[in-house]
Formats: sequence, structure tokens, C-alpha cells
Amino acid sequence: MAVSYKDLGLVNTKAMFKAAVEGKFAVPAYNFNNMEQLQAIVTGCAESDSPFILQVSSGARKYANQTLLQYMAQGAAELLKELNPHLKFALHLDHGDTLELCKSCIDSGFSSVMIDGSHHSFEKNIELTKSVVEYAHERDVTVEGELGVLAGIEDDVVAAESVYTRPSEVEEFVSKTGVDSLAISIGTSHGANKFTPAQCTKNEDGVLVPPPLRFDILEEIEKRIPGFPIVLHGSSSVMPEYVNMINSNGGALKDAVGIPASQLRKAATSAVCKINIDSDGRLAMTGVIRKVFAESPAEFDPRKYLGPAREALKAMIIEKNETVLGSAGKGKVIFG
Ligand code: G3H
Ligand code: 13P
Ligand code: ZN
Repeated sequence: MAVSYKDLGLVNTKAMFKAAVEGKFAVPAYNFNNMEQLQAIVTGCAESDSPFILQVSSGARKYANQTLLQYMAQGAAELLKELNPHLKFALHLDHGDTLELCKSCIDSGFSSVMIDGSHHSFEKNIELTKSVVEYAHERDVTVEGELGVLAGIEDDVVAAESVYTRPSEVEEFVSKTGVDSLAISIGTSHGANKFTPAQCTKNEDGVLVPPPLRFDILEEIEKRIPGFPIVLHGSSSVMPEYVNMINSNGGALKDAVGIPASQLRKAATSAVCKINIDSDGRLAMTGVIRKVFAESPAEFDPRKYLGPAREALKAMIIEKNETVLGSAGKGKVIFG
């Protein structure tokens, strides 16, 4: 039987995006696959009073089991009531690729879906996205579309090269599809190796410095669809502290490089009102787990390594909400 997100105590992204556009901050979208990640996201955002989007990829849905996931989201909403009674969150499908998947998520309590038609032709992308919008809007669910292709891995799709969003296409795409937000490609990329060393320069310490984001394209897009919510995927900074923690405890991450926090901060003060972060959370948890194993090789109680990993992820989320997204303290403004 279909369940509405409203019955689970969730919200769609409308109010948070309106506040983000007006208040020049971005709402964080954190991916989760398991209980510890969910706990870290909910408690971290509750503590920083930040609106947030709980993001689930189709791979995560398969991993966690879709029935269990529905109850995990409902449980998260109940926990949030105890921790920060006025705060609400959206449950969002990340990189949905078919109408059927989007429908299935909407019918199991998602309040927002992404339909990623960016690998199709412009016309096919419009047709697919419009079909999802029709189904979603009848149920007051918000929809994110995408124009332009990010390099890196998106579930089963691997794109070697990014294709920047063409500003000339955005007005037609938004008006013909009726989407509520638009993911664009301006140089971000998925995963922990966002750029090859050849694409980077080196600073005086020999550290790889990635090419800057294409803020000129973002500005051009903003001019054509003023005030429309823009989304950035592939926005982990690939924090060196966690890459180093992994590598100094037996890991082998080579040439890992992400988007500098200063670039994301700048984006958050523009029309960008949703910033997707997954890899940084994975790195933080893996770094801490590797450290625990290296320091305590006899440890075999999952709580002793997943617990510290969860704490590191929570601390990272609080820090990002405050210093990168600018979303800390905005819960009261939106829902208070
Ligand atoms: O954009 C991709 C997200 O990081 C989700 O990754 O498909 O491995 O769950 P996943
Ligand atoms: P990262 O791999 O940079 O964390 O990006 C995550 C993302 O865009 C999820 O859709
Ligand atoms: Zn993504």
C-alpha cells in the first residue's frame, strides 16, 4: 500500500530551497546506507539546527532494503522530534534513472526525487523528466532534474569526461519539464578522485590543486532563470585529514582530490541551494575504522569501530553545516 511522506512526518524541498535562495546558504544533502550514517546525519543536523536532505541512491536502496529504509526514515523523523522539535527533513532519491523507480520511491514515502536524464538527448531528458514531474506533483513531491554530465561514477554509470551545462538550454528545460530544482555541471565530479593529476596544478608543498569551478557558467545560468534552485552534485572536498588517516593506516588512496571548501562556500552564497556530499562521509568513517583496527588489532565488537566512525561523521557534518553550507541555525528560520 502506498504511503505519503506527509504521514511519516517529512517535508518536500520547497520551503528549504526558498529560504536557501533568499538567505544565501545551501541545504546539505547527505547520502546514507546504514544506521550509523543515519544517526550521524540526524544528530549532527539536529545539533546545528540545519535543514537537511537525507539522500538515498538506488544502490543504497538495494543495500538497505526498501521496506527497512522506509521505517528507518520514519524512525529518523521520530528521533528528530525528540532532538530538535521544530526541524524537518526531506527524503530524496539520488540519481533516479527511470519513471518506475521514482514512482516506487514516491509510493514508499520519499518527499523528493531526482530524475537524472542527463545521459539522454535533450529531448528525451525533457520527456522523461516531465513524466516524473507529473506523477510527483500530483502527490506534492518535489523533483530535481539534471542538465550536463559530471565526470565520475553514478551508480552504474561511469562518465570519463564532464560535459558542462549549456546555459542556453536551461530555460527551455525548466519550463517544459516543470522541475523544482536543477542539477548542473560546472566542474564538480563524483567520488574521491575528481580530477587526474594532469588536470591539477601543484602548490609549494606538492599538494594537488584542482581546476576552479566554472562560476562563469553558473552566473550565466542564474541570469537566465533568476531565483531558481540550483543543485551541485559531486561536492565532497575529499578532506586531506581523512585521506591521510586512511593511507597511514594501511589504505592506498592515490591522487585523491576534491572540491576546495572555499569554492563550495562561494557556490552556497549563489543560486546553489543544495550541495551533495557522500564521499567525504565515506572517507571519514573509513579513516577512523582503519585507525581503530591498526591501533587495536584484537578489537571485534562493531560498536567499537562503528561508534567512533559515526562520531567522526557527525563532527564533519556539524563543521560543514557551519562553515561550508551556511545552513547551521536556519532550521528555526524555516520551520520555527
Ligand atoms: O552520486 C553518487 C552517490 O555518491 C551515491 O553513490 O550509487 O555508490 O550509492 P552509490
Ligand atoms: P561526492 O562523491 O562528491 O560526495 O558527491 C556525491 C553526490 O553527488 C551524490 O549524488
Ligand atoms: Zn550525484
